Amino acid sequence: MRGCVCHPGANLGPGFGSPGNDPVRTSSAWSLIPVFETIAIVGATGAVGTLIRQMLAERDFPYQRIKFLASARSAGTTVEFKGEQHPVEELVPDAFNDIDLAIGSTPDDVAQEFCPWAVERNCVVVDESGYWRMDPKVPLVVPEINPEAALKHQGIISSPNCSTTQMVLAMKPLHDAGKIRRVIVSTYQATSGAGVAGQRDLDNGSRAYLDGKQHDYEVFAHPIAFNLIPQIGSHKEQGYTSEEMKMVYETQKIFGDDSIKVCPTCVRVPVSNCHSESILVETERKITVHQARELFAATPGIKVVDDLGAGQYPMPQTCAGDDNTFIGRIREDLSCDNGLAFWCVSDNLRKGAATNAVQIAELLVKQAAGAV
Ligand SMILES: NC(=O)c1ccc[n+]([C@@H]2O[C@H](COP(=O)([O-])OP(=O)(O)OC[C@H]3O[C@@H](n4cnc5c(N)ncnc54)[C@H](OP(=O)(O)O)[C@@H]3O)[C@@H](O)[C@H]2O)c1
Repeated sequence: MRGCVCHPGANLGPGFGSPGNDPVRTSSAWSLIPVFETIAIVGATGAVGTLIRQMLAERDFPYQRIKFLASARSAGTTVEFKGEQHPVEELVPDAFNDIDLAIGSTPDDVAQEFCPWAVERNCVVVDESGYWRMDPKVPLVVPEINPEAALKHQGIISSPNCSTTQMVLAMKPLHDAGKIRRVIVSTYQATSGAGVAGQRDLDNGSRAYLDGKQHDYEVFAHPIAFNLIPQIGSHKEQGYTSEEMKMVYETQKIFGDDSIKVCPTCVRVPVSNCHSESILVETERKITVHQARELFAATPGIKVVDDLGAGQYPMPQTCAGDDNTFIGRIREDLSCDNGLAFWCVSDNLRKGAATNAVQIAELLVKQAAGAV
């Protein structure tokens, strides 16, 4: 780490954001904070980049200087951070000359190019894109599940796909208790998962639909307003899409267990923010509904909202803006002996993206402080 600065006496408990049930911030034992001198947000103008700016401010992430990078289209414009406007600079190799830590959220092809520029200049990258996730040299990390993997990085650490993150978080306590053999998951994914243009498509497409007008969609191949699209990503093997295969391979990599079988169906829905998932899990050892509810409730990062009689369950509108992953409708899978069914909702821009990336960066700070 270049330009390491120590703040004697600083305490990473309350002073490092509010810990709540966040596993990365529960320690109050850090007495020295080595700070990344200069950090950068790459893709600072995007949907995830906007949340990363908000998250770094909210969580009081330690740094000395900060840079905001995006494409040549945005160079010269400004972005808001901590109540002030900051210039956006163009993403070029030399932009990393003085940067120690970059948090990137760009399209895959951009990440493919820029991450090596950063690593060559001794900058660590926490990357949101899909490009590096399955590279054997790159750890794929959800801090509640495999924090140790982040600490063995070789310059790049990947954050998983948003639909994977909330599912593996929900799987974790069940896998620990009963060893998961098989998962069948159907997703209901928000348009913000397709970036700022996806959000525009839902807003403008809905207005046009209600006005009886045609609309040229920017990112969706079919109208998303008042519709469902059962394809996210490109056509891959055996009739699955790239988004679905990410849920298969990323899950196995995060748990370090290729024996977990996952059958996903990913669907884009006309919801602005928060992905929802119907998840069926089959375990080797039986877990009752009561046990599952207790296991979920005891897991950092998960909140249980589960009272069907009272009409209480997680929904995108009640979960947006929260870093937790919400679980409800917990019940036995009537079609198999050791099966559980539940409903899982999470803010894809937060825990599905920005929160997870910033938590990974916090693990690196904690490591540098000798607290892990
Ligand atoms: N949205 C989600 O829920 C979510 C969740 C997990 C992971 N991700 C991943 O995070 C990444 C970003 O997603 P997003 O939703 O934030 O997309 P987005 O809203 O479209 O933002 C893309 C960002 O990348 C920048 N960019 C695009 N082309 C560039 C180039 N040639 N050079 C430099 N910067 C460039 C854009 O800058 P300009 O404004 O200058 O074009 C913008 O800042 C993607 O890889 C996505 O798969 C997204």
